Amino acid sequence: MNHEQMTNINRTAWESQSYEAWVSGYGLPASAANELVRDPNQKLRRLLPYLNNLPGKNIVNPLGSHGRIAVSLALLGAKVTVLDISEPNRRYAMELAECAGVDIEYKVGDFLKLAQNQDVRFDYAVMELGILHYFNDLSHFTRALANLLKPTGIIVLNEFHPLIKKAIDINETNITLSGDYFFAGLESAATPYKEFLSGCDIPASLLRRWNLGEIVTSFAECGFRINKLVEEPSPENNQLPGTFTLVATID
Ligand SMILES: C[S@@+](CC[C@H](N)C(=O)[O-])C[C@H]1O[C@@H](n2cnc3c(N)ncnc32)[C@H](O)[C@@H]1O
Repeated sequence: MNHEQMTNINRTAWESQSYEAWVSGYGLPASAANELVRDPNQKLRRLLPYLNNLPGKNIVNPLGSHGRIAVSLALLGAKVTVLDISEPNRRYAMELAECAGVDIEYKVGDFLKLAQNQDVRFDYAVMELGILHYFNDLSHFTRALANLLKPTGIIVLNEFHPLIKKAIDINETNITLSGDYFFAGLESAATPYKEFLSGCDIPASLLRRWNLGEIVTSFAECGFRINKLVEEPSPENNQLPGTFTLVATID
């Protein structure tokens, strides 16, 4: 299956009822905005340790979804552009930004195509939780990111750790081997916002989950210098990783 076919499936999933899901999960844009205005650092807690001097910085937020990261960054003085495939996500994000009293730019389409047509170059690309698995050729994604950045621009990617997404299940009492860390095929998975709409029939997403070696290699091969790869403990079991943060500079 090529990227376009995979993306059509994921577009259908992400355009189904995401606006309703964000209202159900985070509240109407006005109340969700109040929360971000009160404390923009809270939503950015995983990313802020790696971002310097935000006021005036030009930041791209690929696959930025409901816009809560973008609006929080804008509240801290950055100029933010979201690139995402879902129109209902854009609607929620733009209403959120308006209620928060900030401007953001939000472009709807496939990331690879939007990145090709983007003429502005960014200081940072920031991404969080559920990004890489939407691309069945990671080199296309890392190359597009590289082209979006200014010389010495930086990516900050906080992502689910492949160990817990590909190979093991953790709950309070048990750790079980449930998958294959080296599986290289596509898999169907529940679209994440489904958790906010219980009982609704939401189309599934189609994902390619990458292992850590593939991820770091893809960035390195594309001309990124790896500054940090930090593995963070899982909330379910702090002896295992739950997420990781990759910080890399384009040379
Ligand atoms: C799990 S969310 C990412 C998490 C989000 N950044 C956050 O902080 O909550 C995945 C997002 O990727 C978007 N998406 C999936 N495939 C895409 C593609 N090919 N191009 C652009 N956006 C895509 C979806 O619309 C969705 O908003």
